Amino acid sequence: MDINLKGRNFLTLKDFTPDEIEYLVTLAADVKDKKKKKIPVNHYQGKNIALVFEKTSTRTRCSFEVAAHDMGMGVTYLDSLGSQIGNKESIADTARVLGSMYDGIEYRGYGQEIVEELAKYAGVPVWNGLTNEFHPTQMLADLLTIYEYLGRVKGVKLTYMGDARYNMGNSLMVLCSKMGMEFTACTSKDYFPDAGLVELCNGYAKESEGSITLTEDVKSGTKDADVIYTDVWVSMGEPDEVWAERIEKLLPYQVNKKVMDNAKDNAIFMHCLPAFHNFKTKIGMQVYEKFGIEELEVTDEVFESPQSVVFDEAENRMHTIKAVMMSTLGE
Ligand code: CP
Ligand code: NVA
Repeated sequence: MDINLKGRNFLTLKDFTPDEIEYLVTLAADVKDKKKKKIPVNHYQGKNIALVFEKTSTRTRCSFEVAAHDMGMGVTYLDSLGSQIGNKESIADTARVLGSMYDGIEYRGYGQEIVEELAKYAGVPVWNGLTNEFHPTQMLADLLTIYEYLGRVKGVKLTYMGDARYNMGNSLMVLCSKMGMEFTACTSKDYFPDAGLVELCNGYAKESEGSITLTEDVKSGTKDADVIYTDVWVSMGEPDEVWAERIEKLLPYQVNKKVMDNAKDNAIFMHCLPAFHNFKTKIGMQVYEKFGIEELEVTDEVFESPQSVVFDEAENRMHTIKAVMMSTLGE
């Protein structure tokens, strides 16, 4: 595969061909293997990256930091409280300042247009670490995890349950339709993905021989699925007031044992994390006290079951982010 991604931004998988996506995942598998064998991939000394987080993070931040350290690069973490970003300085000005000092910039924040603007002015590769609309680095980790567990991607039926209009639902629909997978959004129609994006992805699916199904019916939606995927019902940046409606509309789409039993015998459970599978978190406890529900998008039983591959997914964030940085920064 003659693929060169040097100088490219990584803002959404819409911008990448199936071959390029495959290339990134193959590279990630290679650097994962090297890390396990303690073979260093650290010829990036002298390079520096900036991590801009306007929303909180555990996995994405740590993945960028560990990957950068492994690669021999310097890292600066900036949040909106400890920097001028968003308050005293525009994104365009911030982009030009950071672009003059750093070799690459990660951005996590709100609208996709913000990361697009950052990329327009930075002059160095910009990597989307999550916006309201897309979470592309998560997609590579998920693809690598699916390969590791199922050994294939084409024809794999992935059923996404929950809020399918947000970053995770959108991104999985793009990923699956590009890679020839059968994507099903199984949720209340109020949470179906945007019609324009569905149309675009139907075009990708036509080329890749994948498919897109939107259904409110749990039984048919999860029947014989290879992957059952869910995400939090209320995303970062959304107001607390939406909890009541989300619980009412999405509780029928909770991933529980019945759902997993309806999927294939060897089906895996995936979640980008963090997850509300018990009330051992501040927000989980608040929801429990207000609504009396102990488990939200996934039951503890499924989350802790052998079918759950969520911590492999989390680890794969680091290897795949390393692949994104390596390929866009160049050798
Ligand atoms: N999955 C994910 O992006 O996790 P963080 O919010 O912890 O980065
Ligand atoms: N939809 C979630 C994803 C977290 C990784 C959010 O935006 O908060």
